[in-house]
Amino acid sequence: MEKLLSGKKILIMGVANKRSIAWGCAQAMLDNGAELIFTYQNARIKKSLLRLISDEERLVECDVSSDDSIKNAFAAIKEKFGKIDGIVHAIAYANRDELAGDIMNSSREGYALAQDISAFSLIAVAKYGIEILNNPASIVTLTYFGSERAIPNYNVMGVAKAALEANVRYLARDMAKYGVRVNAISAGAIKTLAVTGVKDHGDLLRISEERTVDGKSVTTNEVGGAAAFLVSELSTGVVGDIIYVDKGVHLI
Ligand SMILES: NC(=O)c1ccc[n+]([C@@H]2O[C@H](COP(=O)([O-])OP(=O)(O)OC[C@H]3O[C@@H](n4cnc5c(N)ncnc54)[C@H](O)[C@@H]3O)[C@@H](O)[C@H]2O)c1
Repeated sequence: MEKLLSGKKILIMGVANKRSIAWGCAQAMLDNGAELIFTYQNARIKKSLLRLISDEERLVECDVSSDDSIKNAFAAIKEKFGKIDGIVHAIAYANRDELAGDIMNSSREGYALAQDISAFSLIAVAKYGIEILNNPASIVTLTYFGSERAIPNYNVMGVAKAALEANVRYLARDMAKYGVRVNAISAGAIKTLAVTGVKDHGDLLRISEERTVDGKSVTTNEVGGAAAFLVSELSTGVVGDIIYVDKGVHLI
């Protein structure tokens, strides 16, 4: 039976373990008939990924802090799988020291690192992605409400998410000539490895859950459903947008 994503090859960047938002995206896309390829940051993450994905052929190393790493990864993907129809960019990083206390105490290096990995990397992925993406294709990234509101301890990552969201708009404009749509999902707070870097993340998760419309946090599968929609033909009119998938937290 034809499914929503039958015949589509999607690259998922950013699965660290089964709690990762990228893994929720992978599940939703598999359920909808997509063929998936995954990139991992380093050998340690690869080990963890192999517990989830048995087909090692589908795992490609890609550290987004290096242009060469992205170029090599995408060349390897093109050689093995041909052109692809979508990319999920679910990658962010800041040093733990930067995710605590007053933003005035951010270091120049820590600020730059958060921007590089969490915001600039989307531009690099799009740039090298032109070579491997079909026309039409879709890129989806993950952002958070800390781009708009001063969330305790989120600091440089909130600033990086604001930059990421601006990147989505500029990329959407400039990737259109290649037939590539670019959008972001602003996900509600979910307990993943990345969140545990934020000081007092327990409070962040509890308060976010309390502010959902039904008192239950959004799940990675729910975020994945929206990502599947954004890489599908159902969303061809959605361009350069930030879609909230947070059970209403941003409303209240
Ligand atoms: N968890 C939340 O509450 C939440 C909410 C909204 C948005 N997000 C965003 O979702 C995305 C995925 O995060 P997550 O919460 O699933 O956590 P996660 O820790 O499971 O995923 C983060 C991923 O980023 C990867 N990464 C970091 N540096 C990298 C590099 N240099 N090269 C390649 N990969 C690198 C890690 O390997 C990991 O797979 C992030 O952009 C995050 O900011 C998370």
